Amino acid sequence: MTFEKNILCIGAGYVGGPTMAMIAHKCPHYRVTVVDVNPERIAAWNSAQLPIFEPGLDAVVGKVRGRNLFFSTDIEAGIRDNDIIFVSVNTPTKSFGLGAGMTADLQYWEKTARQILAFSHSPKIVIEKSTLPVKTALAMERILNCREDGICFDVLSNPEFLAEGSALSDLEEPDRILIGSRETDRGLRARATLADIYANWVPRERIITSNIWSSELSKLVSNAFLAQRISSINAISALCEKAEADITEVARAVGMDSRIGPKFLNASVGFGGSCFKKDILNLVYLCRHYGLDEVAAYWESVVTINRFQQERFIETMLGAMFNTLAGKKICLWGFAFKANTGDTRESPAIFIARRLLEEQAELVVSDPKALLNARADLAGVDGSVRYVEDATLAAEGCHAVALLTEWDCYRHLDFERIFGSMVQPAFLFDGRNILDHGRLYEMGFNVYPVGKPPLVHF
Ligand code: UDX
Ligand code: UDX
Repeated sequence: MTFEKNILCIGAGYVGGPTMAMIAHKCPHYRVTVVDVNPERIAAWNSAQLPIFEPGLDAVVGKVRGRNLFFSTDIEAGIRDNDIIFVSVNTPTKSFGLGAGMTADLQYWEKTARQILAFSHSPKIVIEKSTLPVKTALAMERILNCREDGICFDVLSNPEFLAEGSALSDLEEPDRILIGSRETDRGLRARATLADIYANWVPRERIITSNIWSSELSKLVSNAFLAQRISSINAISALCEKAEADITEVARAVGMDSRIGPKFLNASVGFGGSCFKKDILNLVYLCRHYGLDEVAAYWESVVTINRFQQERFIETMLGAMFNTLAGKKICLWGFAFKANTGDTRESPAIFIARRLLEEQAELVVSDPKALLNARADLAGVDGSVRYVEDATLAAEGCHAVALLTEWDCYRHLDFERIFGSMVQPAFLFDGRNILDHGRLYEMGFNVYPVGKPPLVHF
């Protein structure tokens, strides 16, 4: 069978995998191949047990895999045989040298660009899917366009805005698709080719274009704004606890202003995930690079408040539990950085678990999807940690439960039974404000929400 277009994606992660599954699903007339350096990851994509959990992903992959979606480790053949190449390899925060802890580590991206250069026998459109510091495309163009045989490469920026846990619906009905390109004839032609791919299912008015630097910057700024909203509401949650106001009531009143809007105003134990902190630090680094120290400090404070919120959570636990956690059993409900994913990257649960272990508490970690990752995150950390998938069993014999991820299953537990199985007085710290605090208090729990007065039995 011949296909209208042959599309490759390098990097079979949380972004590359679901995005390509959606393109294959919506465009049966295109052949989509996903390659990765990691053979285990590719084997998992080719098996019944996909390497990532994402609602609805199994069904979509099941429909298209082997039809027009293929997973492979053969990067060379992939590059040779495809004309449109998405790159979604990881771009972690640099851990060494200049810009360590702040800017993105671009070694995988550059390595990938050099592979594209080495294995191409024909012109290609190369699309940045990974979130990258502004002007990365320029560097990629310089690497790619150093061939002497006249083969040319067009580099586009097409940031992905999907959120984990809702990746499939975000991909199916995106708020917008952003395509940045050079504003030359060739650049505009490449931009149109990519727009045509998305137009198979996304309304044209939602496909917006810009110059390449605006596109790269828009992704960093979108994530910075989202994270800033969370840090803003979390900062106010600290004030609410002192002033005996209720953060849910404040967020509701503020969010009803149509200029502000109600979304992303849930106070929490802090934001996690692979993007927010990394992208803000990228932005901060960029601002410093251009001598904009005040702007850098402004955005950096979003990360500072996030850490403050997590530390505050520990202080609340300590204060409530008579200033000692040593030898006490504490159950964590949820380890994923948000509900509906098994991903734990930058999860507040990692920080909180480590801090509780420093206080010499014994931990029981529970999560419906993230226990494998949780084990890896806490490997080698001193202290006692058990992993129990069932939330009710996990809480048995514990002095306290700390709810860290807003999984729906935690709303509907048999709390009477849980209360009866815990050491008294039993404490419940709701780091996501999803439980019925009044009811739990009536049952006998001492309840500590975020940004609300605690409900304590004396
Ligand atoms: C990644 C980036 O972290 C993010 O900044 C960007 O917006 C999108 O891509 P994600 O898909 O969540 O996000 O990363 P990850 O799940 O780590 O997947 C990256 C994949 O690339 C991994 O499977 C890794 O094995 C692969 N990879 C990495 C390559 O195939 N080649 C390399 O040289 C490096
Ligand atoms: C984010 C962006 O939403 C997405 O557009 C981008 O492509 C990648 O980064 P993601 O990190 O997957 O997506 O999830 P998101 O829903 O944004 O949540 C991030 C963190 O913020 C989670 O830890 C979540 O629990 C937390 N959060 C979110 C809050 O604490 N309060 C809120 O009101 C919303």
